[in-house]
Amino acid sequence: MNPNLNILILAAGLGTRMRSNLAKVLHKLDGRPLINHVCETASELSPRSIYTVVGHQADDVKAAVLNELTEDKARFALQKQQLGTGDAVNAAREFLENDDSTLLVLSGDVPMITAETLAALVRVHSESGAACTVLSVHLKDPSGYGRVIRNSENNFQQIVEQKDATDEQRKVSEINSGIYCFDTRKLYAALSRVGNSNAQGEYYLTDVPQILAGDGETIAIHVCNDPREVEGVNDRRQLSAMEKVIRRRTVEKLMLESGVSFIDPKSAYISAKASIGRDTVISQNVTIEGKTVIGENCTIRPGVRIVNSTIGNNVEIKDNSFITDSTVGDTCSVGPMAHLRGHAVMVEGSKVGNFVELKKTTLGKGSKASHLTYLGDATIGEKTNIGAGTITCNYDGKNKHATVIGDGVKIGSDTMLVAPITVGDGASTGAGSVVTKDVAENELVVGVPAKSLRR
Ligand code: UD1
Ligand code: MG
Repeated sequence: MNPNLNILILAAGLGTRMRSNLAKVLHKLDGRPLINHVCETASELSPRSIYTVVGHQADDVKAAVLNELTEDKARFALQKQQLGTGDAVNAAREFLENDDSTLLVLSGDVPMITAETLAALVRVHSESGAACTVLSVHLKDPSGYGRVIRNSENNFQQIVEQKDATDEQRKVSEINSGIYCFDTRKLYAALSRVGNSNAQGEYYLTDVPQILAGDGETIAIHVCNDPREVEGVNDRRQLSAMEKVIRRRTVEKLMLESGVSFIDPKSAYISAKASIGRDTVISQNVTIEGKTVIGENCTIRPGVRIVNSTIGNNVEIKDNSFITDSTVGDTCSVGPMAHLRGHAVMVEGSKVGNFVELKKTTLGKGSKASHLTYLGDATIGEKTNIGAGTITCNYDGKNKHATVIGDGVKIGSDTMLVAPITVGDGASTGAGSVVTKDVAENELVVGVPAKSLRR
C-alpha cells in the first residue's frame, strides 16, 4: 500500500452532452460503466483510500464503484449541487483538508488512463516538490478541452477552459487531462479562494494551480505521450470511438499474443476481460462478453454471443447460439441457434442441437439433445439421448421442479416430462409420451399419461 497517496474521482456530474437520463459515468465502455474502469486503474496504485464524489444518481454510482472496489478502500463524498469540478473536490473537504498526503484527482469520464501513466505522474510530483502537477497531452484537435498555457520560461502559467479562452489561447494544442496530483492541504487552502466568475459560472478546479503558482508554489506539468489515454467521454460519439479503439486492441492482442484467428476482426466484439485459447477461430459477428473463458482449438461460428461463460477445448459453437452464465466441456457441440443459460453445464462430449434451450441443467458426458428441446432444472446422465421436441415441464404455475434422467436413457421424440420426475438408467419413453410418474431403470413407458409397457 502507498499510505501517502489518496485518490479522488470526480463523478457527480450528469453529463449533459450525453443527452441521457443515465449519469455519464454509468454509461458502459467494454461492457462496464466508465467509473469502473477508473476505479480499477486507481486501485492498481494501492492508495490508502479512493474517494468518489457522487451526486447525480449517487446510489447507482456508489453501487458501480462497490462492484469494483472493496468496502475498506472505497469512500464517498456527496456533492449536492453540481457547481463545477472545484466544488466537486470541495465536497470531500471534511475528509481530506487536514491530510498530509498527496491527492491524485481523476475524472470519472477519463476511463482509458493507465496505472503506468498515473504512477509516473505521482513520481514526477513527489520528485519535483510541486504543490500541484498537471497531466497534460498534445492533441491534434484540442477543441472542448481546457488549454495549458505556459509562460515565457515554458513553465505553467494557467489553465483556460475552451469557453473562456481567447482565439490565441484556443490555438494551443496542449490540453489539461483533468488529472492532477496535489499536496492535499495546499489544494484545500487554495480551493477556498476559487470563484465562479467565468463563462460557465462554475467553480473550476483548474483555477487552483494558478492560485498556487501566484503564492510562489511550484506547479509541474507531466506530458503524457499517448493522447488516447487521456481522452474524456463527453458525448456518445466519443464513447463509441473509444469502444472501437478498445475493441481493436483486444482483438489484436488475442491474435498476436494468444494465437486466436479472426475471420473478420472488425466485426468481432470481444471483452477485454475475456480469455481465448490458441488456434481457436472466431467467425464474423461474434460477441464475447464479460469474464468468458474459451479454450484452445474451438470454432465459434457467425452470430454467436457468449456472456460470462466457460468453454473447454475443441468445442464447436454453431451459428447464432447464445450462451450465458454456463459451462461447456471439451469436445462439445452447440447449436446452431441453441440457448444455454442459468448455469447450464454441458459435460465433455455432449451435444446440443438446433433450437434447444438448457436452463440450470447438466447434460452428462456424451449425451445429446439434438433438436427442438427445452431442458430446465434437469440433471441428465451419460450417453443419454433426448429425442426431438422433448420438454421438461418444470413449472407448475407456482414453483419450479427438478427432472433427473439417468445414464443410457432414450427419451422418445416429443416426450413431456412433468416434473418433479426421475427417469432411471437405461429407461425409454415412447414418442409423444406425457410422463407424469417416475420411470424405473430399464422401464419403457408410452402414452398419455405414460404407462409401463415392460421392465
Ligand atoms: C474538465 C476540465 C478541463 C479538462 C477536461 C478533461 C474543469 C473546469 N475543466 O472539463 O480543463 O480539459 O476536464 O477531460 O475542470 N464533475 C463533478 N461535479 C461537477 C462537475 C463535474 O463531479 O460539478 C465531474 C464529472 O462527473 C466528470 C468530471 O467531473 O466526471 C469532469 O467534468 P466535465 O464536466 O466532463 O468537465 P470537462 O468539461 O470535460
Ligand atoms: Mg469531461
